[in-house]
Amino acid sequence: MVEILRIENLKKHFQTAQGVVKAVDGVNISLNEGETLGLVGESGSGKSTVAYNVVGIYGATSGNIYFRGEDISMGTSRRPKSLKKDIQIVFQDPGTSLNPRQYIHEILAMPLRVHRIVPENEITDRVKELLELVQLPTSFIFKHPLELGEGEKQSVAVARALAVNPSMIVLDEPTSALDVSMQAKVINLMLELQKEYGFSYLFITHDLGVMRNVADRIAIMYLGKICEVAPAAEFFQTPLHPYTRMLISSVPVVSEEEERMRPAKVASRGEIPSPVNVPGGCGFHPRCCDATEECAGAIPEMVEVESDHFVYCHKFKQER
Ligand SMILES: Nc1ncnc2c1ncn2[C@@H]1O[C@H](COP(=O)(O)OP(=O)(O)OP(=O)(O)O)[C@@H](O)[C@H]1O
Ligand SMILES: [Mg+2]
Repeated sequence: MVEILRIENLKKHFQTAQGVVKAVDGVNISLNEGETLGLVGESGSGKSTVAYNVVGIYGATSGNIYFRGEDISMGTSRRPKSLKKDIQIVFQDPGTSLNPRQYIHEILAMPLRVHRIVPENEITDRVKELLELVQLPTSFIFKHPLELGEGEKQSVAVARALAVNPSMIVLDEPTSALDVSMQAKVINLMLELQKEYGFSYLFITHDLGVMRNVADRIAIMYLGKICEVAPAAEFFQTPLHPYTRMLISSVPVVSEEEERMRPAKVASRGEIPSPVNVPGGCGFHPRCCDATEECAGAIPEMVEVESDHFVYCHKFKQER
């Protein structure tokens, strides 16, 4: 497996009137070529902030982001153009990410022109091809986003990301603004495109259930930090972090086999605290059923419990 993205101890802090918001506070994750990594967490856990650092909307407060070995943690303003093209993002809300005043043709032609993907006289053909790729009628080139349904708009946003032939696409909750049938449609489209073109996806969602059939590996985020990372099958079979177990125990299951594997119901306690006032030690300890004194005092280190299965929890100290 060839690694395409490596995030090392990434921190992104914001100075606000209320104090320093530690939106991302020491995240380590990696993504392989052609792989889907599901980055899952509750609202406010810092998922979008990770995404915006990866695509360069923000520069990092500290830590490193390597794309094919090259450090890109400084934000887009200092990134070479080829790199900007290689990493694309699809945002949560296509309503705001697409300019309502532009025709779909203009929306899709712009990246083709900026990155000189095809000569001027081939742009319309390429725009139509892109629409076909995302299973939309080519007649849409004469429409405005406002004339499209939510799922169709999101498909246009996907087409815009594809326009520049990227190798990695960050999907920041791409389906959470869509109804359930549209969600499935857009996700299936993303998976088909991945099969055909080998894209790597950093797939961000708060919906762990969606990841069961989509992600190759899953990373759980809580209050700016990673709790657990594991291959998807192992993740659902042997969840280790108390927070992961809490999340999985409330995911709906569809088969008896899944029901057998599901951990005993762990009651969800409390809510995610404000990232201005992060609890000391393990950020999850005030909500954790297994918390000890140590959990309030020290930030847990990463432990590789099985090959490729990492957990940040004092319960799983590496035996040395
Ligand atoms: N530019 C900013 N300035 C100040 N605080 C910010 C900024 N961006 C994000 N935050 C704060 O950082 C925390 C993480 O935000 P982020 O948007 O990354 O979370 P998220 O996991 O994407 O949540 P959601 O599921 O709601 O999209 C939140 O508490 C948010 O209020
Ligand atoms: Mg977000």
